[in-house]
Amino acid sequence: MIDIDPSEITPEPVYLYRRQFMMAAGALLLSTAVGACSGPQKTSTPEPLATSSEPTSAPAPLPTLLQATTPTASRQADELGGELTKYESVVGYTNYYEFSLSKEGPAALSADFKISPWRVQIGGLVHKPSVYTLDDLLRFAQEERIYRMRCVEGWSMVIPWIGFPLSQLLEQVEPTSEAQFVRFETVYAPEQMPGQRGRGFEWPYVEGLRLDEALHPLTILATGLYGKPLAKQNGAPVRLVVPWKYGFKSIKSIVKIDLVAEMPTTFWMASAPQEYGFYANVNPDVPHPRWSQATERRIGEFGRRETLLFNGYDEVAPLYADMDLRRFY
Ligand code: MTE
Repeated sequence: MIDIDPSEITPEPVYLYRRQFMMAAGALLLSTAVGACSGPQKTSTPEPLATSSEPTSAPAPLPTLLQATTPTASRQADELGGELTKYESVVGYTNYYEFSLSKEGPAALSADFKISPWRVQIGGLVHKPSVYTLDDLLRFAQEERIYRMRCVEGWSMVIPWIGFPLSQLLEQVEPTSEAQFVRFETVYAPEQMPGQRGRGFEWPYVEGLRLDEALHPLTILATGLYGKPLAKQNGAPVRLVVPWKYGFKSIKSIVKIDLVAEMPTTFWMASAPQEYGFYANVNPDVPHPRWSQATERRIGEFGRRETLLFNGYDEVAPLYADMDLRRFY
């Protein structure tokens, strides 16, 4: 991995501008090659995008495509016909406890959160421990994935993410045969994150997946949404998205990924073990101890709709073929 991230020597607005351009290139590649799809996609080996070799050159004009808050994809809905949630809601109604316990708080409170330079350290049970800069991550071919997100609180959205399969990154670091789980950590920066200065939670935010869940083609690392770089309140500059699990598994602003042998204790398992388990697969038949999970409110809609097992992503069912989904919550 390179030592100096071009984003560290490029003024941030220029950098963000260039990054948007890179993502447009990626998104365009996708929409012409495979189209927007929320299912697994065949992706080629990571290739540097055309602009990534010119870190300090003047940014190319922003394609009109990215000036609007419309998705770059040709489709405006997920594969079940669910309409995309409005951009304003996706960036305005967020859960980011490091900044605020309210949905509206994180947008304003994260304004000064520093996301450049950024590094993600990958280690543990791997043959090739590595440090990836954000530019390294953006060299993986970026795809658009339209996914439903179901929060454990009973609301949901449909979001056009930009990102790449986590499996591609994990393959590069070569997990050893002892690796069984993947542990993720959010940045710990109490001076910038007011929520981390309070009591009651064990920071940093930690999440985990079984290795086969992490390698599943639906699991992505997201760097953007709606054709733009991720907003800070959505977990910039890089977050996990696991669409068949409750939203809290999709950890934001990741700085550390470790391959481990034992099931990691996650932020929510540590904070409220009687309410949250490791797997957290969306399941309408397993109520939260304090409310039903049978239905959900799609943000922007009136009324409630039925919640689907695995959030409707039935293709993941084989991962849990031998498990009692009620017991292993
Ligand atoms: N990651 C961190 N680090 N901190 C958080 O508070 N909230 C989780 C998840 N990832 C959270 C997090 C929860 S509860 C949800 S529902 C999703 O992020 C929300 O993602 P969004 O705010 O982008 O919609």
